[in-house]
Amino acid sequence: MTEENRIVSGEQIDGEEVTIEKSLRPVTMSQYIGQDKVKRELSIYIEAAKRREEALDHVLLYGPPGLGKTTMAMVIANEMNVGIRTTSGPAIERQGDLVALLNELEPGDVLFIDEIHRMPRVVEEMLYSAMEDFFIDIIVGEGPNAHPVHFPLPPFTLVGATTRAGLLSAPLRDRFGIVAHMEYYQEKDLAEIVLRSADIFATEIEASGAIEIALRSRGTPRIANRLLKRVRDFAQVEAEGIVTKEIADQALYMLNVDKKGLDYIDQKILKAMIELYQGGPVGLTTIAVNIGEETETVEDMYEPYLIQRGFLKRTQRGRIVTALAYEHLGYDQSTEK
Ligand SMILES: Nc1ncnc2c1ncn2[C@@H]1O[C@H](COP(=O)(O)OP(=O)(O)O)[C@@H](O)[C@H]1O
Ligand SMILES: [Mg+2]
Repeated sequence: MTEENRIVSGEQIDGEEVTIEKSLRPVTMSQYIGQDKVKRELSIYIEAAKRREEALDHVLLYGPPGLGKTTMAMVIANEMNVGIRTTSGPAIERQGDLVALLNELEPGDVLFIDEIHRMPRVVEEMLYSAMEDFFIDIIVGEGPNAHPVHFPLPPFTLVGATTRAGLLSAPLRDRFGIVAHMEYYQEKDLAEIVLRSADIFATEIEASGAIEIALRSRGTPRIANRLLKRVRDFAQVEAEGIVTKEIADQALYMLNVDKKGLDYIDQKILKAMIELYQGGPVGLTTIAVNIGEETETVEDMYEPYLIQRGFLKRTQRGRIVTALAYEHLGYDQSTEK
């Protein structure tokens, strides 16, 4: 199994999901649920830039996949009443690609670069002067005829998105006037997102059904919307289309997503550690061998959420399972240990 086809993955799964997400995207700041701190700060900067009739400062959005970074980039452009061009770090292969993008910008426009940490170095270096002083120097011609041309740009706003701010080089990071850290969502916000999405899907849902989905969505709107879609199919066949708490519960049980959003493999990891190693400490490689996965896969895909939810702890001597995990999986820690 890869991260892309795991139902509780924060990454986009396939093209169909891309289409669905487009229809679910909030367009304005007031439609954007949760992330209150980020919204409050951005709203002030947007309002100030609009009053001064200037381009908004460059914005760096960072946080795990599925939390609404792309959505926020679009909301920013919409609230600024400007156009937006969208690209991604790996798609800008050469300096010429960046020149072409910058050349199309109107004053005040947003250039959104997703996965900005994956830009080639030469492209990144060209971006420095573009961001700082709105110009680029390009070399025109070849050999003895080669000469630099100073190319002024309209003032624009670069919005960059990355999963970790630490992946960015310091010179690039320093050129963002606004750095916004997206947090995992609280359950009440996720429930609200589920209700809003259900409304767009024209699906009848009870508040308790939305909460049931929110609880298992790992703090991530993308996962919440994906689970809603699956639960809705189940409701259609089993309960005349109405998503109740019971229906959500049954559907998610069938999908192997438990009350805390753990899937089958998350559970398998914890159970192996408890049953075979008395809860640890166990080395990551040993865990990986036991569940038949690569060490890196365990480290990147499974461990972060287990640690975040307090089921697993990293120690000098290896990973240990916490009391919370014993309790959640129904083990009696006193007799197991
Ligand atoms: N704050 C939010 N309110 C409502 N829906 C949201 C919110 N944030 C994200 N979503 C939904 O989750 C999906 C994934 O968001 P996206 O912006 O693509 O995440 P990211 O770019 O961080 O991976 C979108 O389709 C959007 O509908
Ligand atoms: Mg995105």
